[in-house]
Amino acid sequence: MITNTELEYKGDLFPTRITAFQKEVDSVYFHTDNSVILKVTVLRDSLIRFRYTTKGYFNNDFSYAIDKTQSHGYNFLEVTEEAEAYIIKTSKVVCTIQKEDLRIAIFDTEGNALLEDELGFHWEESYEFGGNIVKMSKAAKEGESYYGLGDKATHLNLKGKRVENWATDQYAFQKDQEPLYKVVPFYIGLHHKTAYGIFFDNTFRTFFDFCHERRNVTSFWAEGGEMNYYFVYGPQMSDVVTTYTHLTGKPEMPPLWALGYHQCKWSYYPESKVKEVTAKFRELQIPCDAIYLDIDYMDGFRCFTWNKDYFPDPKRMVDELAADGFKTVVIIDPGIKIDKEYSIYNEAIANDYFCKRADGPYMKGKVWPGECNFPDYTNPVVREWWAGLFKELISDIGVKGVWNDMNEPAVMEVPGKTFPMDVRHDYDGNPCSHRKAHNIYGTQMARATYEGVKRFAYPKRPFIITRSAYSGAQRYTSSWTGDNVATWEHLWIANIQMQRMSMSGMGFTGSDIGGFAEQPSGELYARWIQLGVFHPFCRTHSSGDHGDQEPWSFDEDVINITRKFVSLRYQLLPYLYTMFWQYVNEGVPMLKPLVYYDQEDTQTHYRTDEFIFGDQILVCPILEANSLGRRMYIPTGNWYNYWTGEIVSGRKEAWVATDYDQIPIFIKEGAIIPKYPVQQYVGEKQFDEITLEVYYKLGKEKSMLYEDAQDGYDYNKGRYSLTTFRLIGKEDQLIIQQHKEGKFDTAYAKFRINLHGLPFKVKKIQLDNEKITLDNVAFDNNTLVIDKDFNELHIIG
Ligand code: GLC
Repeated sequence: MITNTELEYKGDLFPTRITAFQKEVDSVYFHTDNSVILKVTVLRDSLIRFRYTTKGYFNNDFSYAIDKTQSHGYNFLEVTEEAEAYIIKTSKVVCTIQKEDLRIAIFDTEGNALLEDELGFHWEESYEFGGNIVKMSKAAKEGESYYGLGDKATHLNLKGKRVENWATDQYAFQKDQEPLYKVVPFYIGLHHKTAYGIFFDNTFRTFFDFCHERRNVTSFWAEGGEMNYYFVYGPQMSDVVTTYTHLTGKPEMPPLWALGYHQCKWSYYPESKVKEVTAKFRELQIPCDAIYLDIDYMDGFRCFTWNKDYFPDPKRMVDELAADGFKTVVIIDPGIKIDKEYSIYNEAIANDYFCKRADGPYMKGKVWPGECNFPDYTNPVVREWWAGLFKELISDIGVKGVWNDMNEPAVMEVPGKTFPMDVRHDYDGNPCSHRKAHNIYGTQMARATYEGVKRFAYPKRPFIITRSAYSGAQRYTSSWTGDNVATWEHLWIANIQMQRMSMSGMGFTGSDIGGFAEQPSGELYARWIQLGVFHPFCRTHSSGDHGDQEPWSFDEDVINITRKFVSLRYQLLPYLYTMFWQYVNEGVPMLKPLVYYDQEDTQTHYRTDEFIFGDQILVCPILEANSLGRRMYIPTGNWYNYWTGEIVSGRKEAWVATDYDQIPIFIKEGAIIPKYPVQQYVGEKQFDEITLEVYYKLGKEKSMLYEDAQDGYDYNKGRYSLTTFRLIGKEDQLIIQQHKEGKFDTAYAKFRINLHGLPFKVKKIQLDNEKITLDNVAFDNNTLVIDKDFNELHIIG
């Protein structure tokens, strides 16, 4: 416990006694003797916002993170006054606010404490920059675990860690290194089988301390701005994550090709090199949908220009690549070269679009092109201008996606790696310094890019990828985890980062497969691709200064492994697309760490390696050299080994043997996994058949399949097809029911059904109550081909 003297020494100030309170619609205001106001707003029964000011008034309420289109509303709200405290009740939680010191405690309706202030809200006047450091401390509960916070390269469970949120160009970052590229000030607490979440929506530099400084205390603070956080009630982690994702927004469906495999390097040029790479993919029959042009495609690194020596006719090249199924994605950085001969620079100067220092001149910094100015993407007028710049790239040349990099923002040759703190930003009409705008800069750039690409790609869907991001960026863009390293440790980090990003509302993320810096061995590359095909975004990228990182830069085994796993990803595209739809529709994370999958099982709380891909596929990467298998934890349930068909029961550790061309993959029993044929790129083949991998279970299981036109917006008008499969397994029977919704007609009419684990020999088959003899369906070796749509398939032993 900190003593008063220590607090005085630290100069912290605390709210004093509540002197007044007033209720206004969904909010309650509490005023203290020393001008603190706490505003509590009930957004939903399970979502409560706490906002504090120490000045006696609130500044304009503005957030880039909150999705303004989300729906609000609660079922029940009651505010009562007792002798010592005020009580706010919703149908899900009870919140008490102490009259004495404004401290807060939140309980579930059964009276279990979910979250209690330790010191609660306090602050420190910072005379250095004129503002408050706003602080909050909560009492950590017994056995409490912590998850979330975006891209942190540390153990999945954050207990015992202190993390810092300040978007940073962290080249070749190390395990536990802080801070990194992204800022997601959201965590999930889990104790006594109950989960809750905190979203601290403050774009200044923030810190979170999870029992690191003091064993029983979790605290978070910001170097400016407001103490402004949202409490999210579970009790399931899935409730917390979906509510948080709802609050900060969900993306639209990506074009299906964006879920294919992407190939990148710094840099592929000239045109002949690009063509050589794409041709090799087709020759080796390794599926690939996207090819990237890194900074060297530009003329002297000037955004929106082309180096005509390397790329004499970009439109012709992009068209030719498209004819072979490749979508071209180009990089666009924020730094605009200071060059009086450069039209984009001149336009920005003429219209005053660049960020300025507090005392007037445009802020100048060095990036790839040398000295640059930087657009203020926090100004809506600048965003509109930026969006318009994509016309030529997208409409005229036919580029399909844009890659935003260096948008932390990164500046070279300065110790702080970014803008000076006095730089001014519009912040959508709430002018401020870089202290406040830094963490949001990259997101606003990606947002402006998204708006431009979307406008010119219409009626097709845009694809954007960003390196820096703040909560809510998922509404506009996918992301990657920045400049990692070709080491086994980084493979471990990549696995954790993707699970963490998924739980942080930003699921469409991947790592640079094989590592960006340094050279992977063939084995490391193979192990990375085996994991990477199970990440929502799947791209090989490397800095290219150490040799090549295309699959054929390694030996024959690696080529075969890459083909095998990338082909598996393409077969699983309908499953992956369905996962994505669940994310878009309900905010459900695409990757589920074991703790998310089964929070009741305390064995899962510190697991890092295993995760569930979607709802029904358990994956565990091989993270060490020379492995012929590994120990792993199998979570609750019965699981089919994907390679052997053998069933294992969960809630235990197991040794899983695997060959070099395998990693542990398990399918949940009862699952129906849809597969498309292997294609070299999305849309390569017109197929009249879908495969359903059916995993027998004694009991019931539900599976989903979402499909639409794979691009465009008709799905918003009901042109989608959502199939719910119900599997009912009995001792000598298996029933598969299909229910379809939506107005989209799939191109296929046949079902190839592969039956796994049937405990009986098939004697009879009935299709929609019609008996069919086994000779009439192609039935062989537990594979069944049915050439018409059906509601119920009855397989009888
Ligand atoms: C940064 C990016 C990297 C890119 C390079 C050159 O390091 O993180 O992905 O290849 O810049 O543009």
